[in-house]
Amino acid sequence: MHCIAMMSLPDSPPAAPVTVPVPLGSRAYDIIIAPGLLRDAGRQLAPLASTGRVIILADRALQPTHLPPLRNSLAAAGLRVDTVLMNATEEHKNFISLQEILDQLLDLKADRKTLLLALGGGVVGDMAGFAASILLRGVPFVQVPTTLLAQVDSSVGGKTGLNTRQGKNLVGSFCQPRRVLIDPGTLATLPRRQVMAGYAEILKYALIDNRTFFEWLATGNGAAVLDLAPQALTHALATSCRSKAALVVADEHETGVRALLNLGHTFGHAIEAVAGYDNTVLHGEAVALGCLMAFDLSVRLGLCPPDDLRAVTTHQAQLGFATRLSALAPHKHWSPAALLAAMDHDKKTSAGRKMFVLARGIGQAFVARDVDDTPVLATLEALL
Ligand SMILES: NC(=O)c1ccc[n+]([C@@H]2O[C@H](COP(=O)([O-])OP(=O)(O)OC[C@H]3O[C@@H](n4cnc5c(N)ncnc54)[C@H](O)[C@@H]3O)[C@@H](O)[C@H]2O)c1
Ligand SMILES: [Zn+2]
Repeated sequence: MHCIAMMSLPDSPPAAPVTVPVPLGSRAYDIIIAPGLLRDAGRQLAPLASTGRVIILADRALQPTHLPPLRNSLAAAGLRVDTVLMNATEEHKNFISLQEILDQLLDLKADRKTLLLALGGGVVGDMAGFAASILLRGVPFVQVPTTLLAQVDSSVGGKTGLNTRQGKNLVGSFCQPRRVLIDPGTLATLPRRQVMAGYAEILKYALIDNRTFFEWLATGNGAAVLDLAPQALTHALATSCRSKAALVVADEHETGVRALLNLGHTFGHAIEAVAGYDNTVLHGEAVALGCLMAFDLSVRLGLCPPDDLRAVTTHQAQLGFATRLSALAPHKHWSPAALLAAMDHDKKTSAGRKMFVLARGIGQAFVARDVDDTPVLATLEALL
């Protein structure tokens, strides 16, 4: 008995990778999801680096933790690896940082076949994608997202963006990556608040068109995802990436259904704008509350059963999300009129008409441009 108790169990076999294809014709690529993938990146990416040359653009904060295993894996596959670091904050997602990064890439003698890798969250992913789309008129790039938000949202779909003094993501390009490598294990170091912010986008996919996924999340699995339980997390990552991939494939350049991905974002962006982008409110936190507002508005307009709004509110409350603006940022002054005014400056507002994603119920979202301000103000008052 003693011997058996002392015997160390063999490592459980790694879960088989999940592959989510993004079939975009000549720009098709795969999203690969597997715990431990960072350590297998070399084998995965060697075929994509046609001259054996890779440059990693990495979030400086990941230098001690996530960069070494990635570099080692690439080097072990015989690739020549260089690294460029950036500070991953919104203030650095601009032209000044872009210029510094392009200079460093050119100083490293990047050529048109050099594979650029983005290691980090959405800030690094957006910067690397934009740099890849203009460096030497285009170099191949791969996303290795390390935040939950980036794993389910920003690394998939090929949108890149930079901030200017006029606002967020007002400059950018469509540039699809050659592959997305998602290692859920990289989230172990991510603060819980950032995990929750990413979860808001997962919930968004369920609310757009997947009621079964919502029911799965609402019956304990959402909490397991937030606790980074491997099986639940992998399922949520794969389901979210499949949702996003389907909308991107249907409408790569967002002239139609891709706009559904903005569920919760008309309200969410207004919340972020009024908060002043000062990090008191994370994007995902604003989107989570924005989704509640979109459902509240849909109920007010007689489109959605009140029970569905109650189910979404209960789910968010159980997971610890703020279900009122005053709880989200108690020290801020929230005025419905200021929030409404902020919507007029939103990118999605066109010819003075605000764009809302509304819902006929959980999993039945649609785009509307004909909503009066009166019910919108009533929603903002109700969720203050
Ligand atoms: N291109 C798109 O389609 C798209 C979609 C959604 C969001 N975005 C953009 O994404 C950005 C937000 O992305 P984000 O939320 O990933 O932010 P982020 O890249 O700023 O990362 C958030 C924080 O987490 C840290 N971090 C990253 N990985 C970590 C890890 N594994 N462990 C510990 N800390 C880690 C970062 O240093 C940073 O402090 C915004 O700029 C937004 O505009 C783009
Ligand atoms: Zn978002």
